[in-house]
Formats: sequence, structure tokens, C-alpha cells
Amino acid sequence: MALLEVKNLKTYFFTDEGVVKAVDGVSFEIEEGKTLGVVGESGCGKSVTARSIIKLLGTTGRIVSGEILYNMDGKVVDLAKFSKEEIRKVRGRHIAMIFQEPMAAFSPVYTVGDQIIEGMVYHFKISREEARERAIELLRRVGIPKPEKMIDAYPFEYSGGMRQRAMIAMALSCNPRLLIADEPTTALDVTIQAQVLDLLRELQKDYNMSIMMITHNMGVVAEMSDHVVVMYLGRVVESAPVEELFYNPKHPYTSLLLRSIPVVGKRVERLEVIEGDVPDPRNMPKGCRFHPRCPYRMKGLCDEKEPVEVEVGPKHKVSCFLYGGTEDGAS
Ligand SMILES: Nc1ncnc2c1ncn2[C@@H]1O[C@H](COP(=O)(O)OP(=O)(O)OP(=O)(O)O)[C@@H](O)[C@H]1O
Ligand SMILES: [Mg+2]
Repeated sequence: MALLEVKNLKTYFFTDEGVVKAVDGVSFEIEEGKTLGVVGESGCGKSVTARSIIKLLGTTGRIVSGEILYNMDGKVVDLAKFSKEEIRKVRGRHIAMIFQEPMAAFSPVYTVGDQIIEGMVYHFKISREEARERAIELLRRVGIPKPEKMIDAYPFEYSGGMRQRAMIAMALSCNPRLLIADEPTTALDVTIQAQVLDLLRELQKDYNMSIMMITHNMGVVAEMSDHVVVMYLGRVVESAPVEELFYNPKHPYTSLLLRSIPVVGKRVERLEVIEGDVPDPRNMPKGCRFHPRCPYRMKGLCDEKEPVEVEVGPKHKVSCFLYGGTEDGAS
């Protein structure tokens, strides 16, 4: 079975201005040792999906329904039902996360070493001396020069690329089964971006780790993923093995995203090539959420009903009326 299986996840934010349905019925699986790419425009719910898995949702965010089934050393548990205390034992040890901005992962007032060591002491109940030895080895492994010295430096003493590496070292320090990488290279320059992606692939092989790779960059997706899910406004609109997605995209939104593929290695921050804005999640369009921007919308259908997911090939699913997907089975 899969290492992680997310089923019909709904995560909402309850704000003064109303309810934001950031993630509104998302399902996907991540296989052991494999990489799932997650793509979609800004605001479609990629980060909230990721943060739901380890329950970093702040005070206003809540998982309102769905399951997050995690194969925890052979026993399947539902992380969606875990308490704060229970999820703390999963975070870092089983599932670790790296972010676009490593400053957000590190506290500025402690040395990088202290922060890596703290997690290892908490999860493994080992001595600080032993944890320190392991931390130095890890920093060396991710390519930090003079790790026995840099371990006692503060995050601000690292350069951007080195800090990113240090964050990866911290994420890997407790041997997680799943690494969630949320735009891990967006803020880096092209050469360092390529180095960090190579490093992640190498570490994945060595530790047989699964990766959830969130990115705007279709080039990065193509290079890193085994399977890809395409998100639009809090939903998965298409899900397919990576080659299938690139050579045989079905959803009109996926095709448009693919047209936005950047030159390899070029830095992309935002996908702004698709006409029309992403609608406000507080005010979802009726029918298919993509219909106001869709070149193939069918009047009376796409603006009225919501398509259900249909299987169009092996492990290839799409939610679009062009392929059937009416609830009563008619197409
Ligand atoms: N704390 C919050 N309170 C209210 N709304 C939120 C909060 N965090 C996220 N959202 C909203 O949830 C939706 C999904 O946000 P999310 O950060 O997951 O998007 P994303 O796909 O990661 O975008 P990006 O590519 O820009 O990182 C957005 O509409 C966002 O404004
Ligand atoms: Mg995000």
C-alpha cells in the first residue's frame, strides 16, 4: 500500500471575512520511495494541503473532513484525527517539511547545530554529544564546507544556498519517511537550484524516502516526479504518472499549465500566462471551478454541474465533462 493516502481532505480557514475553503476535497497517494509532484497556480491550496498533513494550520485553519492515512511502521493511522501531542511525534521523525524561505524554518537566536540537535534528542532520546556528531555528518552530507565549524554558526551567518542545505540537513536529521518540499528552490539562483534538486534526489535514493514536491515550475516537476497532481482552487483536477501527464494531458487547465513551461533552469515565481484570474476561494464559481477560464466550456453543463473524477488511463484520473464525469454517469 501507499505510504500516505489522503482522502477527500477539506481544510478551511475561519476568518472574520468568512470561511476560506482552501482545500476542498483533495485526494492523492504517495508511494514509498517515490516523488509526488503537486502543481497549480498561486492560491490553489498546495501549501495548505501540505501543512494539513502535519497540522501546521495556525489558529484559524481546521481540517473539517477527510482522512490522512499514514503507514506508520506497518500500522495505518489517520493523521487527520491526531492530537497536537500525537502529531508532534510524527513531525520531523516521520514527516519533515522544507520551505521556500529557510529563515522561516530556523529560529534566528539559536545556532544551526542546536536546532538540529534538539530534534534528534527529542525523537531519538540520544545524548547531545551523539546528536552533535550525527549533525556534523549530516551537514557534511548536504555539502556544507567545514561542518565542524559551521555547526556552531547562526542561520544568518549562512549564505542563502547554504541555509537551504542546512534546512535539508535538519529535515533529514530524524530519518523521515516522507519529505514535504514546498517550493524548496524558488528563492535560489539557477545553479544552486539544480544542485539542491540533485541533492534531494541523491538523498531520496540513499534513504528510500518519499517526497511531496510542491512547485510552480513544470520543469522541476518533470525532472523530479514519478506521479503528478494538478490542483485548481482547492481541488485536484488531474492526476497522472509524470510522462502521461506531460505527453497526454486531459484537463484543459493542465494543457494551459504545460504551455507555461519555462526554459529549463529558468526561475519562475508565478504562473501568470493563463487568461483570467484565479477566482476568490470565498466566492467559488458555480459548476466546474475552472469553467470561467476554460476555452472548452459547455454552456448549461460546465457552469451548472460539478464534474466527478473519471479514470482515463492507468493511474490517470481527470475531473472534466469532456471525458464524461456527470454524476449520473451520462456523458
Ligand atoms: N491563514 C490563512 N487564513 C486565511 N486564508 C488562508 C490562510 N492560509 C492560506 N489561506 C488561503 O488559502 C488558499 C490556499 O493557499 P495556499 O497557501 O495553500 O496556496 P498555494 O497553492 O500554496 O499558493 P502559492 O503557490 O502562492 O504558494 C489561498 O486562497 C489563501 O489565501
Ligand atoms: Mg504555497
